[in-house]
Order: sequence, then C-alpha cells, then structure tokens
Amino acid sequence: MQSFQLYERASTVSDKFYTHGDWQKGYQSLKQEFDYWIDDIEGQIPTELNGTLFRNGPGLLDVNGQRIHHPFDGDGMISRISFSNGRAHFRNRFIRTSGYVEEQKAGKILYRGVFGTQKSGGWLANAFDFKLKNIANTNVIYWGGKLLALWEAADPYRLDPSTLETLSKEHFNGVLSEGEAFAAHPRIDSSYSNAPRLVNFSIKPGLSSTITIFELDVTGKIVQRHAHHVPGFTFIHDFAITPNYCIFFQNPVAFNPVPFILGMRGAGECIKFQPNRLTRVIVIPRNPQQKGVQILETQSGFVFHHANAFEVGDEIVLDSICYESLPEVEPESDFRQVDFDAIKPGQLWRFHLNLKHRNVQRELLESRCCEFPSVHPTKVGRHHRYIYMGAAHLETGNAPLQALLKVDLESGERQLWSAAPRGFVSEPIFVPRLGSKKEDDGWVLALVYDSTYHRSDVVILDANDFHKGAIARLHLKHHVPYGLHGNFTFEVFLANS
Ligand code: CO
Repeated sequence: MQSFQLYERASTVSDKFYTHGDWQKGYQSLKQEFDYWIDDIEGQIPTELNGTLFRNGPGLLDVNGQRIHHPFDGDGMISRISFSNGRAHFRNRFIRTSGYVEEQKAGKILYRGVFGTQKSGGWLANAFDFKLKNIANTNVIYWGGKLLALWEAADPYRLDPSTLETLSKEHFNGVLSEGEAFAAHPRIDSSYSNAPRLVNFSIKPGLSSTITIFELDVTGKIVQRHAHHVPGFTFIHDFAITPNYCIFFQNPVAFNPVPFILGMRGAGECIKFQPNRLTRVIVIPRNPQQKGVQILETQSGFVFHHANAFEVGDEIVLDSICYESLPEVEPESDFRQVDFDAIKPGQLWRFHLNLKHRNVQRELLESRCCEFPSVHPTKVGRHHRYIYMGAAHLETGNAPLQALLKVDLESGERQLWSAAPRGFVSEPIFVPRLGSKKEDDGWVLALVYDSTYHRSDVVILDANDFHKGAIARLHLKHHVPYGLHGNFTFEVFLANS
C-alpha cells in the first residue's frame, strides 16, 4: 500500500505525459479472435472513406503464460478494419504459421526468437538450435489479388482477405524457394510506366551480404529479380525507391554470433552498434541492365525506417528516421522496463545523396522523437510535401509515441494530434480522398491504445487539419497490442462478401 502511494505521488510530480504502467498494458497478449460491426463511435465515419485497413503486429506476448523476450518475437496477428458507407467492421485473426500452430498445440515455446526468446531449460537447451520460426508479424499488404503477411527473414504467408484464414506460404510461382526471405517493407511505385509496381527486397547477411531486388506487376507476378553483393555485414529493415534507384542504409553494426550459437542470446541481440563507423548508403539501379552499385558514406547513425525518396538532377533526396545510436539489448533485461530517458530519440533527417560527386549532406528536419513515417501513396519515389508520423507528446526528449504529427516540408508548419496522457499511437496511414488533387486531401488512420479503458480506438483525422481533432473515434471492444505496419486498400473486404 505504501509503495502504491509513493508511486502515485511520484507520477503526479513527474514532468512526463505518460506513466510506464499505462504504456506497458498495451503489451498484453490478445488471445481472442473477434468479428463485429463497430457500434461505439464518437463522431462520424466519412461516407467517402471506403476500403480496408489491414494491420499486422505481435498478437501474442506470451505462449500459454511463458513470456516472449521481445515484442518482435510475437506471433503475427492481423487486424482488419473495413469501412463501408459510413460504417466500420473489425476482425482479427492470428496467422496460422507452422510455428504458431505447433506452439499452441504444445502449450509452450518451442522455438528460439531472433530477439532473445528462448526455450525453457537455459542456454544448454538453446545452444546449436538454429531453427527459425517464421512469425509473419511485421507487415501486411494486398497486392495482385493476394493478401500477404510479411516477416523479413522468411517467405510471406498468404491469407484470404475476406475471412483472414491462412492459406499457404506464397512463393510467386516458384520464384521464391521454401524459407527464402522477402522483406517486410515493400514500396508501391504507382506510376511506373503507367502501371503500378510493387518493389521489395531481401537480405542475405554474412561477411559480405547479398541484396536481392524484386519487382512485381499488378497481377502479383515477379517480373524482375536481381541480386547484388555488398561488402560487410548488413542489418537492413527498410529501403526507399525512386523511379530509377533502390536506396539502402547499411547501418554501422557488427555481428558476433558466438552468444547466439551458444544459446545465450537471440541473433538480433548479437548486433552491436559501432558509433565510430560511418553509415554506408547503397544505391542500386532498378534496371538490372544498368550496372554500377554506388556506395556513399555519411555520419554514423541507425535507421530502421525511411519516409520517402525522390530524384532531383544528380541527387537523390531521402527522408529517414535516424537514431544517433542504437542501445544494445541486454539478454537479462525486460523490454517492458525500458528507460525511455536513457535512449536517444528517433528524429527525421533529410539526406542529399549526390551521385555525381559521391557525397552526402544531411539536415535535421524534425527533432521531436518520431517513428513510423508515411506519405501519400502516389508520392512514393516522387517529391512529397507532407510526412505523417507517430511522435512523442513533448517536443524534446525520448518517450513512447502518443501523438500523430503532420510535417509540411514546404511551409514548415507542424500539426500535432495527441492522445496523451493515457493514449499511445501506432503507425499512421494516409488515405487519399478519391479524385483529390491536393496532397493532404484525405484522412489519417491510426490505432490508438487507450490505457484508461484498456482498449484500442481506430482514430480518423482529417489530414488537411489535425487541429480540429479526431473526426471519428471508433472504440473497439478490446485492446490490440501495439502493432508494426499495415496498408490500406480501396477494396472493401467483409466476412461474407
Ligand atoms: Co518496419
């Protein structure tokens, strides 16, 4: 009781806009699978907003009570919000990966996770076990008539978009082999020769690394595949495209596999940031006939996500969320206890890659802690004016994402919508109004965890004006654990359609 009172007092004098306890609750497993029309709504869903928002993320943070070590190791769960004529329907389903099915049947953890989840029995039970569990938990995209759940270290899982039933692994008519990697960050080039293309990549890390680039046409067929070898170990999660190039950041990290081999750490925990080394920027032509991979260098830093890139003359302009350093994950530590103040925030930087003079200039665009950047879908690879991101409530310091931030790169204006003190946001997705001409004419959709009621809301903002507040707030009947990425399609998928 006494410690509770102390905690209460401490939180009231704190200058923070959140409590650790509230934030942690968003990391509870959601075991149930739901299917219902959302009827608890504040505001109004725009009748012009029709389509389906698919989201992916770890749905389970434990297996039958056995905690996983890091959310990145959690089994993928799809949440689907279908918008139809002013109404919205929710459905969630776990992806029945073979690992998920086996572990649910066994009622315990059977696989080591990349981010430190171990089988019980200590390091001896884990040493020399290199079996990989494809958890399909990072992104979900509807492309070429297929709904694909993506995880960067293995092959995609194909789902039925109407029922969310897991169908099979997707190998694109045998182009991918069993278990072959296909990254979780595809980019859609919407104006490639008047027919959109989906561009994605895969990484095969090693002493030197192989980057393979895939291009898929609108029917979902892989029409181009080319591989490139680059020196050194790579840890690359995302990339950016322009009409002519793919751009990758080779973060300055070293990999020591020994603790992984000996069963003491997950492979992802053996990656160590090297602050004294430069970041390499790898620029690969999209046309395989065009030779010449270029490698430029810039200051040390760590990038998970890029917002967008575009070409201006000899230059590629690239906007990315960059961290000054990446803290090492200690195997004994619990991610729920993370000290936000001890970590450097992600910030939005602009990189000017000059391909002629082979140099890089960079400038800080936004110093507020931010992550999960997105732009208008037809601006991918082209000049963009606006970026939408998850952001901290306060302008300075590092904190959980509690706000949605719109950055206008032309006027410099910022618009912030905040769910603080008790709400926590996920990746914002911009949906254009059909037939719109203005780049910010549309809506921003995000799932927001409301710790007051331990439930999640689907929040709809008018992208043109965040200041008027949410135009609709759809209260779900339950929470959705903090997710990773998702995509919107204008096709409406419903259970019985
Ligand atoms: Co990502």
